[in-house]
Formats: sequence, structure tokens, C-alpha cells
Amino acid sequence: MKNILITGGAGFIGSHVVRLFVNKYPDYNIINLDKLTYAGNLANINDIENAPNYTFVKADICDFDKMLDIFAQYNIDGVIHLAAESHVDRSIKDPFTFAKTNVMGTLSLLQAAKHHWNGDFENRRFYHISTDEVYGSLEFDGTFFTEQTSYAPHSPYSASKASSDHFVRAFQDTFGLPTVITNCSNNYGPYQFPEKLIPLFINNIRHGKPLPVYGKGENVRDWLYVVDHARAIDVIFHNGRLGDTYNIGGFNEWTNIDLIKVIIATVDRLLGNPEGESLDLITYVTDRAGHDLRYAIDSNKLKNELGWEPSLQFEEGIQKTVAWYLENQKWMDDITSGEYETYYDSMYENR
Ligand code: NAD
Ligand code: DAU
Repeated sequence: MKNILITGGAGFIGSHVVRLFVNKYPDYNIINLDKLTYAGNLANINDIENAPNYTFVKADICDFDKMLDIFAQYNIDGVIHLAAESHVDRSIKDPFTFAKTNVMGTLSLLQAAKHHWNGDFENRRFYHISTDEVYGSLEFDGTFFTEQTSYAPHSPYSASKASSDHFVRAFQDTFGLPTVITNCSNNYGPYQFPEKLIPLFINNIRHGKPLPVYGKGENVRDWLYVVDHARAIDVIFHNGRLGDTYNIGGFNEWTNIDLIKVIIATVDRLLGNPEGESLDLITYVTDRAGHDLRYAIDSNKLKNELGWEPSLQFEEGIQKTVAWYLENQKWMDDITSGEYETYYDSMYENR
């Protein structure tokens, strides 16, 4: 594979994948296709924008004719599909957009790949990036999501991602399209849009704003540093078994409230605030509707078959992450003006 289409490469995880592939594989042509929704930001990848093996295309994955043109124009032989609507709270307010982008957009890409490859699947691959949320929710019983866990999505976001996974498998089974799917746990790190827990709370602490903890803060998430997710995507894109699924996770479970206390302590320390000063900002608010209790990924298959493991301990990752957001205040300020503030206010006035 030489001409690699990466969708959603101006978003959080996509920007790390694009950066890794552009820098690591000078012989590949990396085509980054992104609609630049509110979540897409070219500033996330301005360090590689002039690389000779990199092209940016602004387009909507739902535009099937455009996808056909792009596959033909760049003679695409590999796809890493990350473009999606990704925020659960938004999916509760506006499920249609999630069905459109995540389901119809994925279908549009699958159809374009099928059309362009026209039955010749040698050295071709369609890699779909999915989420652990398709598996639903776990109890506090020490169990994990494995690749065999049945799908049981609860939010419109996870339902749309589950649906897209089913379409990918259907194209593999019906047309022989060479696909691979991964389901990853919560990512954290630089360039995450500040509607998600970690960057939102870092920014709010900095500005002395309330920290809205949903419910009792006892929900559990399994956190993985985003660069380790990008490393896993690299390994699986090149060596993953076709038609297969791999779970990606960090074996790193935190209750929200414990994680929030770590974030507060780290921000206060780096800003030189008195220890524990920002604990007063914790504000318990109405729970998220349908809030999944616990996610935990068993990524042993990926470790045993392809040798991937997270490279970073959580303590180091969260330290690096907080430091990055505090050092890149302009990146944050550029995003958190205008439309975002309006949206953020409207989310909370309904609670
Ligand atoms: P993000 O919201 O930060 O970025 C999504 C990107 O997709 C943006 O650049 C946006 O402009 C683009 N996009 C949205 N709609 C589009 C469309 N119609 N056409 C073209 N581009 C479009 O998301 P993220 O957190 O980086 O997640 C990326 C992928 O990884 C998603 O598929 C998500 O479901 C999956 N995932 C995310 C996490 C996580 O913790 N963030 C974990 C597991 C899986
Ligand atoms: O598990 C993978 C998923 O992780 C990805 O598929 C999603 O794209 C990604 O957004 C993320 O989903 P979550 O809903 O887990 O992430 P979020 O950052 O929105 O919330 C993390 C936890 O924190 C969750 O239990 C809800 C809670 N929360 C979140 C926000 C934004 C709060 O308590 N307060 C908040 O303000």
C-alpha cells in the first residue's frame, strides 16, 4: 500500500495518526480527508502540513460522488477511517447528525472503496476505527470487554458506531472487502477538543470555572495515551489479520472523581497554586442520560498476536498532557471562543 487515505485527520486521534504516518513513512502518500467540523482543526497538524508526502482534502465523507473522485484521483489503496461525530453528549442532543456521519458516511466510504478496487483486493485494506462503547457497560465485577463481547450500545453515539462496525463486517462478508476493525478505550493527550472530560477540566481549572461532574463521579473509564493508540493503529494497519477485530486499551481504569482529583492536583502544582485549591470547583450536576457505568478493555489479543503494549505509564501521560494544555493556551483560546462557548452554555442550561 502506498496511497493512504486517513479520514478525520484534523481531529484529536486522527491528527496523531497523520503525524505518525507522515513522519514514519516517507514513501507513502498520506491523504488527510476531513470536513473540518467544529472538532476538526488544521492547527492540530500544522507541523507536517508542508511535508512532501502529505495532502489535505476538505470533504464530507457522506458525499459519495466526491469519495469516488478522491479514490480515483489519488488511487487509494489503504484507508484508515477515523472521521466521525465523537461526543456522547452531542449525540443525545442531536442523534441525526451521528447517524448521518457515522453510519451513512462510513457506508459511503465502503462503497467508494468497493467500486474503486473492483474486486482486486491484493495489497488493499480498509481499516475502521471504532470504540469500546459499542459493547455497552460493565458492572464493578472485574470483567473486561473482549473481542467476543456482544454489542449492546446505549447512547446514540455508540449505536451509530456499532452500526458502522456492522456495515464494515457486512462488506467483508458480502463482497470480500479486506477490512479490519479496532475498538479502543478512552484516549487522552494533546489536541483533544475541550468538550471531553480531561481538556475541559484542565481549562476550567485554569479559569476558575466549575467542574461539572456527572452523577456521583463513580463511573469508570479505561484511559490510553493517544500516541499509544496511534502506535497500535500503525501495527494493526500493517500486520492485523484481515476480517478480524482487535481491542485496544491501557488496563488503566479510573473512577471519574479519582481522575478529576489527579487532574486538579497536577494543574494546581504546575500553576503554582496552593495544594488542593481547585478542589472547591468540583460541582456535581445531573447525570448524563443513559450514562455507561464502566468500560474496561482486555487488549491481550493485540499484545499476544502483534506485540503491542502501551509505552507510557498513566502518571507520566497525565503529567505530559496537563503540561501541554497549559503551555498551549493559544490553541485552547482559539477554540473556546465563539461557537464553542455558545454550545457549551446551551448544554448546561438544560440540566
Ligand atoms: P474528533 O471529534 O476529535 O475528530 C473527528 C474528526 O472527524 C474531526 O476532524 C472532524 O472534522 C471530522 N469529521 C466529522 N464529520 C466528518 C465528515 N462528515 N466528513 C469528514 N470528516 C468529518 O474525534 P476523535 O476523538 O479523534 O475520534 C476519532 C475516531 O476514533 C472516531 O471514529 C471515534 O469514534 C473513535 N474513537 C475515539 C476515542 C476517544 O477517546 N476519543 C476512543 C475510541 C475510538
Ligand atoms: O470509550 C471511548 C469513548 O471515549 C470514545 O468512543 C468517545 O468518542 C469519547 O468521547 C469517549 O467517551 P466518554 O463519554 O467516555 O468521554 P467524555 O470525555 O465525554 O466523558 C468521560 C467521563 O466523564 C464520562 O463518564 C462522562 C464524564 N463527564 C464528562 C464530561 C464532559 C463528566 O462527569 N463531566 C463532563 O463535563
